[in-house]
Amino acid sequence: MSEDIYILAIESSCDETAASVVKNGREVLSNVIFSQIELHKLYGGVVPEIASRKHIEKINQVIEEALTQARMKLEDMTAIAVTYGPGLVGALLVGVSAAKAISFATGIPLIGVHHIEGHISANYIENKELEPPFICLVVSGGHTHLVVVKDYGEYEIIGRTRDDAAGEAFDKVARAIGLGYPGGPKIDKLSKEGNPDAIHFPRAKVEDSEYDFSFSGLKSAVLNYLNSCEMKKEEVNRADVAASFQKAVIDVLVGHALEAVEARGFTKFAIAGGVASNSSLRGAFEEECKKRGIAFYHPSPILCTDNAAMIGAAGYYEYQKGMRSGLDLNAVPNLKLGER
Ligand code: KG4
Ligand code: ZN
Repeated sequence: MSEDIYILAIESSCDETAASVVKNGREVLSNVIFSQIELHKLYGGVVPEIASRKHIEKINQVIEEALTQARMKLEDMTAIAVTYGPGLVGALLVGVSAAKAISFATGIPLIGVHHIEGHISANYIENKELEPPFICLVVSGGHTHLVVVKDYGEYEIIGRTRDDAAGEAFDKVARAIGLGYPGGPKIDKLSKEGNPDAIHFPRAKVEDSEYDFSFSGLKSAVLNYLNSCEMKKEEVNRADVAASFQKAVIDVLVGHALEAVEARGFTKFAIAGGVASNSSLRGAFEEECKKRGIAFYHPSPILCTDNAAMIGAAGYYEYQKGMRSGLDLNAVPNLKLGER
């Protein structure tokens, strides 16, 4: 019998219906993603009911496609890993129910995975040499966490946002300057034509916590700037606003994260989550890490935004540790990292 471990992974926590087959934790045999972005664009953001309904329509097809592309059968799978939180409850339930049904019908063990643990584990896929301990900055539409990865599956959150997540700030500012949803990639692109030093937006420091973040003041500063231009009938240079806003976010993320890496004596640093695909953010970390002699890791853009391969990577290490979920596994919309 082969000793290889094959994980069928399922992700449906927000607006991507995704399934993947991952071999031995780091080799992706298939990574199928059905993105619902086009549907939600109409409404300027994710509509939970529409997301759940679309997940139900797509989930079986996406799972079958992941197995077909990997040239494998359900019976070849060692375990089924599924995101069970955090996320939209109705969306999570679709993936969890599908995984439980497959597990019940086949007897293949089930492993519930934390979505953020998935994002962090995306780094293992293309960086075969990366092993804990290291510090990871997780920046997505719903989360901004600075995490010490002590070991596989062992985390300590040392910084978090007090208000908006970084991706949320990108999305809100993009909407304010008329770029539409999702804003992150659009601001990323438009910023390349703008001057990041044109407008000085605030870099918030959170009192009494070294590594916490706050982005709501920055978002308000951008809105105030746009309002005052309108009142003075001055034309807004959207590329300058995008570039200056993005620079303010990047300065804070890079500053806090690398301060923590150095203060705690780490030599490895990684980024994860949708915002980690931002080209200027990656460039800034690349440069600063080089200066400070820190090894910098990041997943490819397709593994930064929501996908199931990252859940397969995380699921593999949970499997190796002996973690198994029962058929009573439920969706937990506000699941905390490190909790069961
Ligand atoms: O990780 P993700 O796909 O979903 C969550 O778990 O939230 O992250 C989505 C977020 C959105 O807010 C999106 O605007 C942002 O990531 N994002 C970006 C970029 N690509 C996606 N933000 C900045 N620059 C990008 N290139
Ligand atoms: Zn995510």
